[in-house]
Amino acid sequence: MKSYDFIVVGSGIAGLSFALRACKHGSVAIITKKEAVNSNTAWAQGGIACVQSDEDSFDRHVADTLDAGAGLCPEDVVRAIVSEGPDAIDELIHWGVEFDGRENGDGIPELDLGREGGHTKRRILHSKDTTGREIETKLLAAVHESENIDLLEHHFAIDLITTAKLGFASSVRCVGIYALNEETGKVRTLRSDRVILCTGGSGRVYLYTTNPKVATGDGVAMAWRAGAEIANMEFVQFHPTCLYHHEVKSFLITEAMRGEGAKLVDKDGKDFVTAYDERGSLAPRDIVARAIDREIKRTGNPCVFLDITHQPKAFIAERFPNIYETCLRLGINAATDPIPVVPAAHYQCGGVRTNVDGRTSLPGLWAVGEVACTGLHGANRLASNSLLEGVVVSRRALVDVLKTLPADRTTERLLLPEWESGEVTDVDELVVIYHNWDEIRRLMWDYVSIVRTTKRLQRAATRLQNLRREVQEFYWNFRVTPELLELRNLVEVATLIVDCAARRKESRGAHCTLDYPETDDRKWLKDTILSRF
Ligand code: SIN
Repeated sequence: MKSYDFIVVGSGIAGLSFALRACKHGSVAIITKKEAVNSNTAWAQGGIACVQSDEDSFDRHVADTLDAGAGLCPEDVVRAIVSEGPDAIDELIHWGVEFDGRENGDGIPELDLGREGGHTKRRILHSKDTTGREIETKLLAAVHESENIDLLEHHFAIDLITTAKLGFASSVRCVGIYALNEETGKVRTLRSDRVILCTGGSGRVYLYTTNPKVATGDGVAMAWRAGAEIANMEFVQFHPTCLYHHEVKSFLITEAMRGEGAKLVDKDGKDFVTAYDERGSLAPRDIVARAIDREIKRTGNPCVFLDITHQPKAFIAERFPNIYETCLRLGINAATDPIPVVPAAHYQCGGVRTNVDGRTSLPGLWAVGEVACTGLHGANRLASNSLLEGVVVSRRALVDVLKTLPADRTTERLLLPEWESGEVTDVDELVVIYHNWDEIRRLMWDYVSIVRTTKRLQRAATRLQNLRREVQEFYWNFRVTPELLELRNLVEVATLIVDCAARRKESRGAHCTLDYPETDDRKWLKDTILSRF
């Protein structure tokens, strides 16, 4: 057993920024299941939303966030996060992150601010179209320089250890974590009274997603099994513009392109989104994604197109080099051809329920970033608010963690039991794991995606129940592997999404059901909260 003052699970912006601050107060372990650079953060293209110009204001950013969130964002949470943005940006810059700049009319350098859907002002700080990669590499470099941080790569967090699991009747709290060392195959016991989940989202629960392979909802599933409350999982945000191509499946075409005037058009070049919302291609994401979904279903065409050909080639290649080059390699010249796109699962607006300091309902456990549900995103996240949330709430969480020690300090001296694997053998039926994995992703896409119905949700729930039983059987009978652990988490998270979606009998934000097409503020202006106890 090894003890740390803080255990951080996950290596995106939330986890790394928490660790960089926490290491000044004690020892930190960062557990991450692949190489640390494999995170949702590293894939973020657009940028980080933050008020930075005199033409903008916190009030406007708050209003835009509330508007996108469709009535479910608590204003105090939004205001706290938005108004602490500039200080958090200064910290990122201090850690070495470079955002694109330009000269203003008087030749004075200033930040080049982009615009995305739902924002009434330019306020997106970016680094070309690879902002996440810039943040990830700079924060990781700072972590590597810190002596007080153990970066445990290829460690898969299996489960949280709680006093309840250890058989203590009183004061349930989190006291550590079991993690599979993927290189040795051994399970390690890591001890801490302060565990911070920063594991990102669960896009991989869907067949089509903009998320990297690591996004399998591990944090939500672990927190749920440990007894923490989960909220608003029905609000899965679908990004309107994932590249439609038979070779490249999860490549995002950033919304920032629409901020630079790109329009969504049909195969004849006609702008169809304005018929759904007067803001057209720059309307909030839920509206645009549904418009595309309807257009595809109505016409039978496999995709729609994003047209940025009004911009000069030099501008596209300079501002969006990653997209321009990737498309060119696939035979699409964005300067002359509209880019084929489809919506795909992109962001989990719900998650482990926390306050604005990342504190969960389970003492000793905090959650920050996409894994968490602070309420900032309400029923539909405003573009580029997520990196902001990660870096601001991780700061607030550290302040909270430092003032929250267990009332009963005896848990600090607890000797935690080692992991018991019993008489299990290696999984001999990997094919079954892959089959179940595919089945979950396909059924979630077919039954629980952009537009839902009660009947489809019921079908999904029944299938998931069976799959869950099978996966549990595997889990208890075989030696754990990363594939099996991901499958176990995936089926758990899929079940939570379906459960939340079935409870919400209205349409709001990212949750749209044909059986309850209206928004019903009288009954449903509230979070969907799941609790095991
Ligand atoms: C994008 O670049 O379109 C993604 C930004 C986001 O999801 O916040």
